Amino acid sequence: MKSFYQLCCFLFGFSVLSSITFVFWSQPSPPCNTEAAINLAKQNKSIDILAFPSSLNQLSFSAKPPPRLLKVALFVKRWPQRNLAGGLERHALTLHLALARRGHDIHVFTTELPSNATFPRYDGAVLSFHPTQPSPAGYLNQALAWEQFRIQNATGRPFDVIHTESVGLLHGRARNITNLAASWHGIAYETIHSDVVQDLLRGPDEPRRSIIAERLAKVIEEVKFFPHYAHHVATSDHVGDVLKRVYMIPEERVHIIVNGVDESVYRPDPKVGEEFRRKVGVPKSASLVIGLAGRLVKDKGHPLMFEALKQAFMEEEGFQREVFVLVAGDGPWGSRYKELGENVIVLGPLEQTELAKFYKSIDVYLNPTLRAQGLDHTFIEAMLSGVPIAGTRFASITGSLIVGSDIGYTFLPKVESIKESLYKIMGDGKRVLSRKGEVARNRALHLFTATQMAAAYERLFLCISKSPAVKDYVDYCKYPLPWVSGGQRTY
Ligand SMILES: *[C@@H]1O[C@H](CO)[C@@H](O)[C@H](O)[C@H]1NC(C)=O
Ligand SMILES: *[C@@H]1O[C@H](CO)[C@@H](O)[C@H](O)[C@H]1NC(C)=O
Ligand SMILES: *[C@@H]1O[C@H](CO)[C@@H](O)[C@H](O)[C@H]1NC(C)=O
Ligand SMILES: *[C@@H]1O[C@H](CO)[C@@H](O)[C@H](O)[C@H]1NC(C)=O
Repeated sequence: MKSFYQLCCFLFGFSVLSSITFVFWSQPSPPCNTEAAINLAKQNKSIDILAFPSSLNQLSFSAKPPPRLLKVALFVKRWPQRNLAGGLERHALTLHLALARRGHDIHVFTTELPSNATFPRYDGAVLSFHPTQPSPAGYLNQALAWEQFRIQNATGRPFDVIHTESVGLLHGRARNITNLAASWHGIAYETIHSDVVQDLLRGPDEPRRSIIAERLAKVIEEVKFFPHYAHHVATSDHVGDVLKRVYMIPEERVHIIVNGVDESVYRPDPKVGEEFRRKVGVPKSASLVIGLAGRLVKDKGHPLMFEALKQAFMEEEGFQREVFVLVAGDGPWGSRYKELGENVIVLGPLEQTELAKFYKSIDVYLNPTLRAQGLDHTFIEAMLSGVPIAGTRFASITGSLIVGSDIGYTFLPKVESIKESLYKIMGDGKRVLSRKGEVARNRALHLFTATQMAAAYERLFLCISKSPAVKDYVDYCKYPLPWVSGGQRTY
């Protein structure tokens, strides 16, 4: 499939030059249509934002905020208080902070903080929080949150757009609202691959997890209720495809906006990286530093990683001599990694500024996750830091992140396969790794910055928002916007 895709798109590119090669490209296929749409966009030929088949992040939007600012309602189960929050909450924070900084009026409907703590304040952004007591199961209490929403919708002006992170707002309330978008960070269909992997790795005495039997029913349930949401944002290319094909949601209601992280925090800085290495005790003789980060639990593949490292250190004298591993994060496998000796340095959980230094200090970032849900932020942080990445062959990872060997390495969720990658990484060495790191960073700067993500959401929100009172003469669903001033698109 991959080679076909490359061949097909190669021919498409070529067909512009030669009508003879065009003959070979007579079989239209989805990847090529995607490529064709991207090419149209690159040539600034008008396209429809809603129908764009690939990630909106790759379009170039104006850096200036639009003249029309939106009143946005966000429904999210929990608001992150610390940097350790999971992907969904971090996405909510990164995105809506960026939107607020661009001048949009953001209202967050979420559960109150533990022990009723006050919500944080952020530089250069005003977010209005409307906390409610959680439901008995710990979810957003729909009736209470909706009542808050109704009050705010009747105060000042009504909301232009409603955004729900996953099922923050349940489909019963979301149905029939046309100016609404739901972002998905892990759908049941995606999880089936993880279920297969985790069951294969189950010990002989471990019972099969009961969720396995229920998963298919869960997928079918999702296929039934997802269409009640007017618009869908897939956070990876793979999920976009599944929503259109398996969940059968009309294509013009499925939009791909891949996750972004703050590019001003995660960027290369060799000097800071070198200082960090010295501080945590990596000796000058180390020729290769591998980084692991995140929650150090079984689901994230750490038992496999542990075993692969253990064997590599035992089998290969060169590995033992030259390779150091930095482990950032929290969880039971942190203390196990310490058993591997002085080549493995366990750092514990790191706050964002320290974590940014950690990425700057490593030669390759390795994530053996067994959970294929959403688009993992840690890979993106590493890429923006100029670090090549290695990860498990899940569709979201190979489809959006490690799309080629020029960016990094992929392996199967098996000890042997991870070990092979470790040896390949060692064999490639620093020079090759830093070249891959550069490619990874360029891709991330193009697609995975918080700025690109926020600009893409902003345009989608402008496009789907209702504006009965505003006589809006700009069709925000068109790309590029229709007028140019002084050679610059201005909104
Ligand atoms: C498309 O528009 C952008 C932004 O105005 C500009 O930088 C780029 O050169 C244009 N591309 C073409 C092919 O005209
Ligand atoms: C939190 O504070 C609000 C407003 O002061 C109050 O209504 C609510 O009952 C409090 N919740 C808890 C769990 O104390
Ligand atoms: C918000 O208020 C506007 C104006 O009254 C109304 O048209 C709209 O239906 C309300 N939105 C929701 C989701 O109730
Ligand atoms: C949504 O619209 C359908 C068809 O127009 C209608 O039958 C249904 O009652 C509406 N649901 C809500 C929650 O308003």
